[in-house]
Amino acid sequence: MRRVRWCAAALAAALLTTACTGDDRGGFRPGAADAGDPYVPGAGNGGYDVGHYALDVRYDPGDDRLTGTATVTATATEALSRFQLDLAGLDVDRVRVDGERARHRHDDAELVVTPRNGLPAGRRFTVEVTYGGVPKPLPNAELGDGGFHATGDGAIALGQPESASTWYPVNDHPSDKATYDIAITVPDGLTALSNGVPKGRTSAGGRTTWRWSEGSPMASYLTTLVIGDYRVTTGTHAGRPLVTAVASALPADGPAAASVARTGEVADFLAARFGPYPFDAYGGVVVADERIRYALETQSRPVYGPGFFTGDRPNTEVVAHELAHQWFGDSVSVARWSDIWLNEGFATYAEWLWAEHDGGRTVARTVADRYATTDWTRPTVDPGRAGMFGDAVYQRGALAVHALRRAVGDDTFFRILRGWLAQHRDGNATTADFVGYAERTAGRPVRALLDAWLVGATPPGLP
Ligand code: TRP
Ligand code: ZN
Repeated sequence: MRRVRWCAAALAAALLTTACTGDDRGGFRPGAADAGDPYVPGAGNGGYDVGHYALDVRYDPGDDRLTGTATVTATATEALSRFQLDLAGLDVDRVRVDGERARHRHDDAELVVTPRNGLPAGRRFTVEVTYGGVPKPLPNAELGDGGFHATGDGAIALGQPESASTWYPVNDHPSDKATYDIAITVPDGLTALSNGVPKGRTSAGGRTTWRWSEGSPMASYLTTLVIGDYRVTTGTHAGRPLVTAVASALPADGPAAASVARTGEVADFLAARFGPYPFDAYGGVVVADERIRYALETQSRPVYGPGFFTGDRPNTEVVAHELAHQWFGDSVSVARWSDIWLNEGFATYAEWLWAEHDGGRTVARTVADRYATTDWTRPTVDPGRAGMFGDAVYQRGALAVHALRRAVGDDTFFRILRGWLAQHRDGNATTADFVGYAERTAGRPVRALLDAWLVGATPPGLP
């Protein structure tokens, strides 16, 4: 509406003869084509902020087709003539903005939507996308393929830094967190797991719809979809639903099942140090597909690859790592990927704390060990895209956390962690935010110390 009046006025004044055509229509401009994060060119978009995704997807392992409707509720952060969503592959049938058909163009990874009227800054709007096709993972040679993997009897959608756009249209960058309702329809007999609180399931015509709801803001790479033959355990922990699942292909009484069975206990151990568990549900899923060579801290319900549980004893260190991410990474998320040590350094340190508590190696021994093998020429902050999951981020990052602890003492250290997590809960933060917060809480400078441990090119003295 406003755009029309603007244009009419402009025309009447015979000033801006092109103001009503092209991309820049009376101050309404296209939203940016990505989030501007050099680690993930093309990922994310500009000009709006998503509040909620309502996803309704259907998947059939028989023909490997996924069909879906995504209803995205967002707020324009600038006056938009058009905007983009990330959607890798798949075909878009229809797009509606606030219930009205909208023009759209979909190339390989970007869905460009031109609503009938421009969206003024501050306007809340809904985009409904109906889409479908055979989903494919995003090839990523150095970091591992991300996204939708068909498994024959089901599927696993998982990956970092990118995966969500392989199964739904999304503003695919951690700086735009949103809540989710996810409904997954699969043939009867299959399990369909996702994030958050289970909202029940219903069957009709040979298909079952499983519903999940994540009520805390979630970064898109933390969404997951796991479909297949699973042994599911549903219970409660600390008054909240706890849903764990182990692929039926793995032994019922093996190390995978024994490890995720300790989820509640490990979460409580971490809560005693980091502050209250940040989400409304607990859980974990162990998949059997060997292509999943990692675990990922998918929100409220991490997914573990089978490789972590091949020994004859349980592996609770990986559980501690992924659960620590619920605080560091999921509740408090990076604003840009160059700060990923804020996730991995703390999750790795939590592993060391848990191991010591659980009768394993002491933190002091682990620190001495990692210190001896650190390559100090590799920086922890801004490690480069290829270095996102390297030792400089995980191990050197955890050493920096320990150095801070030794410098300020246990009391202040855990006050810093709890205060930091409370302050940025459900949000995003940067390394500079952390250093500033630590200094204010400690009441003394720690910047030089953290600089030396995080990015200095020579080994700092062992604390
Ligand atoms: N963030 C994961 C962890 O530390 C590891 C990871 C890196 C990963 N890349 C991934 C997991 C891709 C799954 C897919 O726990
Ligand atoms: Zn991690």
